[in-house]
Amino acid sequence: ETAEKAGCESFMLKEIHEQADAVAETIADRVADRDRIDLGDLGAIDDAFLRAARRVVVVACGTSYHAGLIGRYAIERWARVPVEMDIASEYRYRDPVVGPGDLVIGISQSGETADTLAAMRLARARGAKVLAIVNVMGSQATRDADGVLFTRAGLEIGVAATKTFVAQVAAMYLLALRLAELRGTLEPARLSELIGELKLIPHRIAALLERGDAEIRAIAARHRDARFFLYLGRHVGLPVALEGALKLKEISYSATDAYAAGEMKHGPIALLDEATPVVCVATDAPVLYKLISNVQEVRARGAHVIAVATEGNGEIGAHADDVIRVPATDWMLAPLLAIVPLQLLAYHVARLRGLDVDQPRNLAKTVTVE
Ligand code: G6P
Repeated sequence: ETAEKAGCESFMLKEIHEQADAVAETIADRVADRDRIDLGDLGAIDDAFLRAARRVVVVACGTSYHAGLIGRYAIERWARVPVEMDIASEYRYRDPVVGPGDLVIGISQSGETADTLAAMRLARARGAKVLAIVNVMGSQATRDADGVLFTRAGLEIGVAATKTFVAQVAAMYLLALRLAELRGTLEPARLSELIGELKLIPHRIAALLERGDAEIRAIAARHRDARFFLYLGRHVGLPVALEGALKLKEISYSATDAYAAGEMKHGPIALLDEATPVVCVATDAPVLYKLISNVQEVRARGAHVIAVATEGNGEIGAHADDVIRVPATDWMLAPLLAIVPLQLLAYHVARLRGLDVDQPRNLAKTVTVE
């Protein structure tokens, strides 16, 4: 087992360090030509269907749902197709309005999650075309779908998903760009610029990880006894906040809440006191100045602000107690970088508490029952 961990103290840490490869493998031949996306054979989901689809619906559970949320922003912004999101266990019981002309995407690293499979089957029975985004070849989801887009993260053993998440997010970006290309909703120059940035993401993740995690470990040490952490984000930063909060709660057993920063005044602000760490996803974005004003409100309550920000952005420093920097990229792609320090933060809080990060209590890697 030690050999399998490649010198790492846990599978989770090893898998965090495999994320540059997970993204590189997932995009590989699909972005070989800088001017176009090649998704290969998606079975019955052909170009004509993708060009005309009236709507996209994404169903998933857990971390896969968070990957879908990021995909929604990308598909709507770049391809101008409306996207509906649902938790698979909710979707399957709400008698959804779905049918021919709809593209339903089931995201699942295992391809075996009972609720996601049921949601996909329901949509298919009602005439929608179903695309599975999965990490396991031959899994049930691949048999229940009209087409499959594989993530190529490799086997993931840690119960808390890490490298499969970044691979799913990369797959959603690819699909969004392909839809935009087919529908002519992005200028060709903008399309190739985004493809070029996506191709650089594995290098940027590697650079981020090579810097080491001493800084994040020090932040984790300061908050190792905190009973509650609040996570805030806006736009594509929101799903990153949701995923960062999920990681921390899964492996450290701290209570967490993740909120759209603009909603903070409508509830979570009541929870803040001087002991509360507030993790803000503050990477460069057109809404950053809005987020900063939310951060100022947090600070005014005495809470301790930990910000994830873009290298070179001087603004956030004045408003945060700790700033963790990630490399610059196109702001829509920033989630692929911003999630990495949040995984490491969760990891170190859990380790400092002496917990088993690979097999947290009560959780299963694959949930094959309802
Ligand atoms: C379990 C796992 C999570 C995962 C979720 C959905 O809860 O512990 O890591 O995100 O199931 O799994 P799936 O295989 O469908 O992505």
